[in-house]
Amino acid sequence: MSEQLRTGEAVHVCSVDDLPDVGAVVADIGGRRVTIARDSEGTVHAFDDTCTHANVSLAEGEVEDGLIECWLHGSQFDMRTGEPKQLPATAPIAVHTVTLDGDDVYVTLAD
Ligand code: FES
Repeated sequence: MSEQLRTGEAVHVCSVDDLPDVGAVVADIGGRRVTIARDSEGTVHAFDDTCTHANVSLAEGEVEDGLIECWLHGSQFDMRTGEPKQLPATAPIAVHTVTLDGDDVYVTLAD
């Protein structure tokens, strides 16, 4: 995607109905791969898709209790803060702001 995003711009990404009941998909937002995930409480989260341990997609991992678990080595990240909760990853993932307007999911990218 070559479209330039303005800082702080909320981008329409998908509908809530496009998301699994509990799980994740990947979106391309201004050329950045972002995981859009819904947890068991129905909360929608957005964060960088690449695991900080190695270059794999977190969206292919498992969502459970506010955490996403990387499928490759089992690191878990808090989807609200991005902090790693389980080794081997030690660096956080960037978390983005999600805004819901009805069923529409908007994401504002962090810096
Ligand atoms: S690549 Fe994610 S934990 Fe190793």
